[in-house]
Amino acid sequence: MPADPIELYNDGNHKCLMFDSLVTGDGVQSNQFLILDGEDSALIDPGGDLTFTPLQVAASRYMRLDALTYVLASHQDPDIIAALDRWLVHSQCKVVTSKLWARFLPHLASGHVSRNLKVNVYERIVPIPDEGMNLRFGKNSLQCVPAHFLHSVGNFHFYDPVSRILFSGDMGASMGDGQSPVEDFDRHVPFMEGFHRRYMASNKACRLWANAVRHLDIDMIVPQHGRPFKGKIMVGRFLDWVSELACGLDLMTEESYRPPEG
Ligand SMILES: [Fe+2]
Ligand SMILES: [Fe+2]
Repeated sequence: MPADPIELYNDGNHKCLMFDSLVTGDGVQSNQFLILDGEDSALIDPGGDLTFTPLQVAASRYMRLDALTYVLASHQDPDIIAALDRWLVHSQCKVVTSKLWARFLPHLASGHVSRNLKVNVYERIVPIPDEGMNLRFGKNSLQCVPAHFLHSVGNFHFYDPVSRILFSGDMGASMGDGQSPVEDFDRHVPFMEGFHRRYMASNKACRLWANAVRHLDIDMIVPQHGRPFKGKIMVGRFLDWVSELACGLDLMTEESYRPPEG
């Protein structure tokens, strides 16, 4: 039986839950999120085969799974959306993702899914344009915030104006330092540095993103791996750090592209 989820926000009507301990075996630790508001529900970055069954069991304690409104996918990776076909079959959900991935995601659903279960995969996908969009949700909306090249070419974060949480996908991800909110930022840096240097495309992308999200009223940045950043000070420390970070293309040299010796 997996541990109870962490309640990130709950005002009685609007609820944000974080499942942080569903991955077992060889997969990297990852967080999955469930947002509930009245009749509406959304899973963010629910993952693949590793998390499908435990997440299905855990989430069904809070809602009727077949009535799931949305699966929100920040990008196309296996730990984000590999179980696409199962969510389509077991619920009525729409899958919301970058328009860059909308035509590729049907490759995750077997022919069996579309033929025998009469699930028209592409019709259930909502492609997000590059400039982002608002998604009606409960009495408010969820904002799909552009985060391109961080790390995927077509990448979105999801901002919930009710809880003031920015669900930031791989941005801010850490490995091996637990899942509770960061307390000592400097001590936390080594747990996210290597990942960001290699997986994020460039300092330009980090800086443009950080400048844009500073205009949102953010209480918490919650990544898909590891520890959240809670409160103005920690959120500010993270945005400052990532704005200055050299990563991805900034670090590539001729050496990086030399073929291995035969
Ligand atoms: Fe990823
Ligand atoms: Fe990830």
